[in-house]
This record gives sequence, C-alpha cells and structure tokens, in this order.
Amino acid sequence: MTADPQSGPLLSVRDLRTFFSDRQGVIARLLRRKSGEVRAVDGVSFDVVRGETLGLVGESGSGKSTLARTVMGLVPATGGSASLDGRELVGLRRREWRPLRRRIQMIFQDPASSLSPRFRVSFLLREPYVINKVPPDQQASVDELLDMVGLSAEQANKYPHELSGGQARRVSIARALALHPEVLFADEPTAGLDVSAAASILNLMRDLRDRLGLTYVLITHDLNVVGYFADRIAVMYVGQLVEIGLGDRILAHPRHPYTQALLACAPVPDPHLNEGHLDNVLGGEIPSPHDPPSGCRFHPRCKYADPRCTDEVPRLEDLGEGEMVACHHWRRLDLTPQPPVEATAAAAAVAQTTL
Ligand SMILES: Nc1ncnc2c1ncn2[C@@H]1O[C@H](COP(=O)(O)OP(=O)(O)OP(=O)(O)O)[C@@H](O)[C@H]1O
Ligand code: SF4
Ligand SMILES: [Mg+2]
Repeated sequence: MTADPQSGPLLSVRDLRTFFSDRQGVIARLLRRKSGEVRAVDGVSFDVVRGETLGLVGESGSGKSTLARTVMGLVPATGGSASLDGRELVGLRRREWRPLRRRIQMIFQDPASSLSPRFRVSFLLREPYVINKVPPDQQASVDELLDMVGLSAEQANKYPHELSGGQARRVSIARALALHPEVLFADEPTAGLDVSAAASILNLMRDLRDRLGLTYVLITHDLNVVGYFADRIAVMYVGQLVEIGLGDRILAHPRHPYTQALLACAPVPDPHLNEGHLDNVLGGEIPSPHDPPSGCRFHPRCKYADPRCTDEVPRLEDLGEGEMVACHHWRRLDLTPQPPVEATAAAAAVAQTTL
C-alpha cells in the first residue's frame, strides 16, 4: 500500500506542546540554579496520510520520543492537539483510550521497557488482548504472531533475556501489531542492533507495512534508515520542527542548515570516509529545552546566523506541497552551493557513528 494524499490526514498534530516541570533538588536550590519547565515538545504540527511513512529525525534530546509518547497519551500534553482520523486524542481519559489503542500503537525505544523480564514471550504477546479486553474470536494465536514477524513457535517459551537483540525487536513488533493497528510509532527500531540485524528488521517493517497497509511514524537518529523507507522526513531541533518535506528532496537538497549538518554527519557507504560527529561539525551540544536560545534556537551553532537570527523566531514557512522550513535565510542559502556530503564528513574525520 502506498500513501494516499487524497484521503486527508489519518494522523494530525497541531501546535502540540509537552512541558515537564523542572523541580530542582535541595542542593540545586541552595546553589540558586534556575528552575522552570523543560519544553520537550514546543509547538509541533504535522499530518500523516494513510499508508505513509513519516521519518522523524533529530539529535538526542530533540524531543522525538516525548512527541510520540504525547500523541499516544502516555504523557499528558501541555497544549495543542493530536487527532486520529478526526478523533481528538489529547485529554482523553484512560477508558476513552481503550478503543483507540487498537488503532494506534508504539514500538518503544528500549525493548526492555515493553518486554517485562518476568514473563515468557507467549504471555507478552497475549497481554495486549487481556489489557484491551479483546474477545477471543478477534485474537491472533501466539504462533500466528510469531510467524508474522519471522520467529519460530519455539520462541514462545523463552524469556526476553534469552532472545537476541533482533529477536526481542521482532517480539516488540508482534506485540504492537497484535491489535491490528493502523498507525505505528516505531521509536529507534534498529538502535543497538548490528548492521545485518538492523537491515532485517527494516525489511520486516517494510514488508509488514505493505502487507498490512500500516502507516508509520519512524523515529531514528539514522538518516540512512529514513532514506530507506520514509516517504517524508520531519527534522526536529530542541522541541520544534525545523524542516519537513519529501524524503528524496530533503536527502538530496536539504534547506535548513541543521538538516544540512545532520546529513553531513550521516554515515557514508565508503568505509574510507569516517562519518563526522555533529558536535564537531556544528560546535557544541544541542541546547537544553529547559533554557532554549532566543530567536532561532539553532543560532548558537549556525554558521549563517546574523543578528536577526538571535532576536526573531523563524516561523515554519509553508512552501507548498507539504514542504516547510523554519529559517529566516533559507532562500539565500538555497542558492549557496553545499559541499558534497562525503567531503564534509571526511573533513570532520571523527570516527563516531551516532549524531
Ligand atoms: N519525564 C521527563 N521529565 C523531565 N524532562 C524530560 C522527561 N522526559 C524527557 N525529558 C527531557 O525532554 C527532552 C527530550 O527528550 P526525548 O527523550 O523526547 O528526546 P529524544 O529526541 O527522544 O532523544 P533520544 O534520541 O536520546 O531518544 C530531553 O531534554 C529530556 O531530558
Ligand atoms: S534562522 Fe538564522 S540561525 Fe536559524 S537556521 Fe536560519 S540562518 Fe541559521
Ligand atoms: Mg528518544
């Protein structure tokens, strides 16, 4: 199944905000450290149409998991809206979520947090049916679920610690798909896996998407992963989207300087070229969402920043056809030739694979 833009958004997120209160400990208070709120997600809007895969990328701490957990109702939104097929999700009570859980599911970033070590795989795969009170005639068998994700029936008796990383991921996927959801948030589904296990998980996810007509929001650090099967890419920085557009266009011709830097650091196929580390390419770390920079949040690390960038927040400008960018100077930069990705990565010359 392919994306159907004519059908309208299946998932719609508008100005979504998730702030955590930053209660300081006694020592921090004695040292008069500033307290306040952590703006983990700060005004994010996007749509996902049925059958589409949206890749959500950004450095560690940019708010990707919090965004997913907020849409899923696992952490309360501070404001804004998220709707599934027109049904508002923000502010729903637990029992109101029950019928919707069957339609939207999540593969968690850390498989250990969704696979309790105390239970065998067979129990873990049946658990969603028990929690969601699914009648027996609507339940798939454990063998069917294992088969769907390419695992043999023998795995049913194992405990999570007896599984390889790839097998544990497959069990997490089977668990998330047990309720036949339409939308699946996949949070770093290949993190911690070696190259071949990661490739086979991606192939499985792609196959399941096509077979079951799934709609994915795929969260990852790895631009090669989104390049592999995302239709569109959304780039997040300190709780906000800075660019969104068609995957092919963004990978070939990124407009926002942050997206350009992410691409410059992406691992390259040539083993003689070391991928760069973002800190080395941009200088410094991602700012804290507790105290984000003024104006454009990217300005302390942006080589194109000027006084306007420090004072004025760039709005996410709609360029049409689903393309948006939040940079005062994107038009000018668009005309500036960018160095090829390989050259930039080689110049950084730091053998570090994570962003
Ligand atoms: N429960 C919480 N309380 C306070 N701050 C939080 C909480 N959860 C997340 N944060 C903060 O919100 C910000 C975004 O975190 P989040 O886990 O969403 O980022 P991420 O993009 O998923 O990062 P990673 O790629 O490392 O998984 C971080 O600064 C994090 O420390
Ligand atoms: S608005 Fe300014 S600081 Fe922000 S990305 Fe654009 S040029 Fe850089
Ligand atoms: Mg995360």
